[in-house]
Amino acid sequence: MLPNFPKPLPEGDKPVNRTVNVDDRLYQYLVDVSVREDDLLKALRRETAQYHMARMQLSPEVGQLLALLVKLQAPKKLLEIGVFTGYSTLSMAMAMPKEAKLVAIEKKQMWLDIATRYLDQAGVMDRVTTYCDKALPVMESLLEEQSETFDFVFIDADKQNLLSYYQLAKQLLRPGGCLLIDNTLWWGNVADEAFTDKDTRIVRELNKTIHADKGVELSLIPIGDGLTVVRKIPKA
Ligand SMILES: C[S@@+](CC[C@H](N)C(=O)[O-])C[C@H]1O[C@@H](n2cnc3c(N)ncnc32)[C@H](O)[C@@H]1O
Repeated sequence: MLPNFPKPLPEGDKPVNRTVNVDDRLYQYLVDVSVREDDLLKALRRETAQYHMARMQLSPEVGQLLALLVKLQAPKKLLEIGVFTGYSTLSMAMAMPKEAKLVAIEKKQMWLDIATRYLDQAGVMDRVTTYCDKALPVMESLLEEQSETFDFVFIDADKQNLLSYYQLAKQLLRPGGCLLIDNTLWWGNVADEAFTDKDTRIVRELNKTIHADKGVELSLIPIGDGLTVVRKIPKA
């Protein structure tokens, strides 16, 4: 069975990446009273809306939460898996401390080109290193010399490799570091037994794995398509 994608809303630049059953009126209220979207992020969202893949983009309220968590954690070293056109990358890069560095991995050059243009405009590109490659080999190579050195990791890529991304990200993360995983409610399909496709099964498996993992603290926040926030517990 195919994922239960929500119907796109009529206006091109309205965000559609949301699962939790908030009706349009309440969602609009939530946006009106809480979202303060930077003009550059707004422009990126508008540009991305022309692509049929636009629904992969983070919603503004999720981007804003990401930025807020970055500010609270003040990470020096960040890692992102799955850049797309760079909404999350830009949100994190503009929120991170001036001395911080962000490593961002995306397999498609076309998306990275768009992201780079906006990161340049924001004046943060000198602090962002991009890899145009599949995330698994890049993460494995980072592990060789940078194990437990990242303060903040955001995973928002393919679901097929999600369990490996989780395990590798935990190894790259320093104790006390923060790991965020997007789409953990997977269009609501995770809770519907009728959905037995591979991606849904993997997201369910990940959620069970994190819940059972005594090495982390977690919260699954019902925002956007579900955002799991994990803290790697320092060893006593
Ligand atoms: C959901 S989108 C990311 C959305 C992005 N975080 C944002 O804020 O707009 C997932 C991205 O992961 C990329 N991707 C998929 N599989 C990948 C892989 N194995 N390695 C690296 N990137 C991958 C896709 O090309 C796509 O751009």
